[in-house]
Amino acid sequence: MKKTLFAAAFLAMLCGCAKDIPELHVVPAPQSVEMKGGSLDVRGINFNCDPAMDSASAGAVRGFAEELSRLCGRTCTVGEGKGVAFVVDASMAPEAYSVRIGRKDAEVRASGFGGFFYALQTIRQMLPVASGAQCKLPCCEISDAPRFGYRGLMLDCCRHFFSVEEVKKVLDVMSVYKLNRLHWHLSEDQGWRIQIDKYPRLTEVGAWRNGTMVRGDWKSNDGIRYGGFYTKDQIRDVIEYAAARGITIVPEIDLPGHMQAALASYPELGCKGSKPQPYEVWTVWGVSKQVLNVGNEKTMRFLEDVLGEVADLFPGEYIHIGGDECPRDEWKADPQCQAKIRELGLKDSDGVSAEARLQNYVTARMQKFLASKGKKIIGWDEILEGELAPGATVMSWRGTKGGIKAAGMGYDVIMAPTTYCYLDYIQSSDLEHEPFSITHNWATPETVGDAAVTLEKLYGFDPLAEIPEEARGHILGMQCNLWTEYIATPEHLEYMLFPRVLALSEDAWCQPSVKDPERFRRSLESYQLPLLDKMGVNYRKLDK
Ligand code: ACM
Repeated sequence: MKKTLFAAAFLAMLCGCAKDIPELHVVPAPQSVEMKGGSLDVRGINFNCDPAMDSASAGAVRGFAEELSRLCGRTCTVGEGKGVAFVVDASMAPEAYSVRIGRKDAEVRASGFGGFFYALQTIRQMLPVASGAQCKLPCCEISDAPRFGYRGLMLDCCRHFFSVEEVKKVLDVMSVYKLNRLHWHLSEDQGWRIQIDKYPRLTEVGAWRNGTMVRGDWKSNDGIRYGGFYTKDQIRDVIEYAAARGITIVPEIDLPGHMQAALASYPELGCKGSKPQPYEVWTVWGVSKQVLNVGNEKTMRFLEDVLGEVADLFPGEYIHIGGDECPRDEWKADPQCQAKIRELGLKDSDGVSAEARLQNYVTARMQKFLASKGKKIIGWDEILEGELAPGATVMSWRGTKGGIKAAGMGYDVIMAPTTYCYLDYIQSSDLEHEPFSITHNWATPETVGDAAVTLEKLYGFDPLAEIPEEARGHILGMQCNLWTEYIATPEHLEYMLFPRVLALSEDAWCQPSVKDPERFRRSLESYQLPLLDKMGVNYRKLDK
């Protein structure tokens, strides 16, 4: 009895102490956190960078010192002396970091920019959202590293166009949540968005459409000319802005389907007898049957020229070449495509049509061309149909089965299944009150519950579920996709992105043992949503 009482008193004492130690509300939650009690006052503190530190990391520390000075109302210094020491530790993995905060000083360790930048994001989230509040860091030891190397977000800037400023705002928020790839969807049936010097009509003609269908009514057209594109200088600016935030841009030129805007610009690249004529930049949503004539050598040169300029512009290792939803009806009727099929000896076999094999040929040729430029390809999971050359990375969107199969075959995979990762899908079951979304086109009050991609559902996604142990190394990571057919304004874009992107962040960064939906929700309520408010970000309020 005495023993039980003692144990109860001891437990009560422990709980009492735990109450005084604040819970960290950092998202994504770090891999390991040991709270120590006590705090470090960081008003006017000094930041001391290791002489071995690279200039990008030193720049990030200087930027952070300025932010902290504004936040706490006292100037922080960067130089010799005590305070927060930044130590280069070459033994650490590229994005890993550790933070030790004591009552008198602190130490941050990383091997380079990725780790130092993420350590700063974590420390920022341990400080108050608003300026003027207490500027103290809780004493603790943190050791952190991401579960996956690829933590991505796809923005469709074709169905609707978003300004450089809006793209940068999204990059700002991505960097807070340690996402490191922006997949930038730049070509579509409904609009071509990237300047290509050799083919000026792509942006003179292909970037503009004569109106847009209204909501889900395929017969309607609002009659308003719509468009826009990014110049190469603007793109260079975005690339640099992203890099300073640890983000690499993966550009997508979607081929050989989803090319109607290019066909409106250069009709000679189309199939014989393609209808309707003349080609127009598409004004409705869906999958256009008007596709590139890949039996024409001129078309292949066009693709290589375009991808060549894209490869020269973007420094990252990957170029996304799309490959999804390419109807092959026109190839069946086109004499040049059929001649190419005969020349290559392609046959219907093993349930794969000769036309599907023609697409394999296009994929392989672009892959080889891009390899000559030092780039690797990513394609949507349709590129698995038929034959796929080694070295391609498969983005699994039609569920996870494509990704599971591809990983089993030895291809690298990025998981982005519609069921969990499509941020254009409705966020709740409330068809009446949620803004019109793609889900509204097919869901009923009975089915919308399953169709919705709620915050909680996305939080429950594990990219490695059902992946056999031996294939797990091929799962590079995951991505959420935001298609923008029904999203025309920055406010709506942000509403669809946030706070779901925070769930993506924990899915992609945290080990399953660290994830906890209740702690995640508390973090959002107590800190992250106010932080989004401070950043001027529109987001969907949490359900009660
Ligand atoms: C896709 O959603 N069509 C990749």
